[in-house]
Amino acid sequence: MPPRIENYRGREQSFIKHLFLNQYLESAAYKLFQGRSPIFNFVDAFAGPWRVSDTNRYSDASFSQAIETLEMVRRSLLDMGRTGLKVRFRFCERNPASVAKLREFAAEKPEFDIQVFSGPFEDNLNGIRSVCQDGFTFTFIDPTGWNVESAKVFEFLRSLNGEFLFNFMAEEVNRHAGWDGVAASVGRFLADPAWKDAFEAMPEGPNETKILQLLKAKMKEAQVATYLTDMAIRKPREDRIKMRLILGTHSGFGVEVFRTVQEKVEKEAVRTRHTIQTEESGQSQLFPEDQVIAFETDRDGVGCSGHKELASELMLRTVACRPGVAFSTLAAEVMEQVPVRTTHLNKVATANRKAGLLRFDLPGGKRTPSPSTRLWPSIKPKK
Ligand SMILES: C[S@@+](CC[C@H](N)C(=O)[O-])C[C@H]1O[C@@H](n2cnc3c(N)ncnc32)[C@H](O)[C@@H]1O
Repeated sequence: MPPRIENYRGREQSFIKHLFLNQYLESAAYKLFQGRSPIFNFVDAFAGPWRVSDTNRYSDASFSQAIETLEMVRRSLLDMGRTGLKVRFRFCERNPASVAKLREFAAEKPEFDIQVFSGPFEDNLNGIRSVCQDGFTFTFIDPTGWNVESAKVFEFLRSLNGEFLFNFMAEEVNRHAGWDGVAASVGRFLADPAWKDAFEAMPEGPNETKILQLLKAKMKEAQVATYLTDMAIRKPREDRIKMRLILGTHSGFGVEVFRTVQEKVEKEAVRTRHTIQTEESGQSQLFPEDQVIAFETDRDGVGCSGHKELASELMLRTVACRPGVAFSTLAAEVMEQVPVRTTHLNKVATANRKAGLLRFDLPGGKRTPSPSTRLWPSIKPKK
């Protein structure tokens, strides 16, 4: 069952986070099971339970939702005749009281392959890795702040070569990262004790966006992912960025799925904000909900005109630097940076071709590039 907003009063941002996690997991599992591997390992590295409302079934906790979602995928494929699929659940938690709850939860569900690891994730990496050797591993990293020993975690992610969703706690980082008292812990988070020099050399901007940029650079350097794409989640009651979900993947398909899920979840975030405003004001709002959702997502959502313009600029720059680049490679690189989907990029590429800014062949009858289509810069007329 998908997360239910009634369970998230006062922490609606977690509802959005869980919606995202579930929808991404569902698409990723279908894709994996239909092709690459019959084994899916789900690692909830900072599992909780944490601030849940449903203390009986934990239906508002990530670990329980992951079980429901992945089991639903496995069963629906089984109904279609796909046998031998296996999902492993590996949950890690530092707080002993929460570990006890996780163990109790696991004991009540003997039909699932659940293993609970007690203590800091960073101290359990070898144990978890040894039970995820085969199959595809998806790791959910959801700390409460920035207290993470990233160097160790990066090594774990690199060696498993799977995918991860990292919850970057933007609000906390923004508030505290400039304070000298936390310099050492931010250094551990960034896997770079000397981070301050790079931070201070960066152009003016919010602390959190600078730290995010440094973190992503370190992740790429550690080769934990080919693509790192992210989306902001706002606190709907205060309309302030609370967190940013970062997906690390080696697959262009993963980037496409991320943007597709983002597009859906953005609409839910606007709906949630609108409902809260209506509730708090005690009056019905000036515009109907659907109109508000359309207005806000057209203004700055996935595939809005501003993002398509940015995507177009990046596409032209990339093709100019790497003439002959394949459309699938180009699309994944653009979607990593800009919130657009392949369907938007098809239109952007075709418009640029029509305007004489790009060259590519369209096989008879086709109106948009295929993944293997090679793109070239326009031939400028000689002066
Ligand atoms: C934000 S909560 C997780 C919420 C959960 N993922 C969800 O969405 O329902 C973070 C959890 O991580 C635990 N924690 C903190 N540091 C940890 C560490 N180094 N290793 C494992 N767990 C940790 C906390 O006790 C807390 O339960």
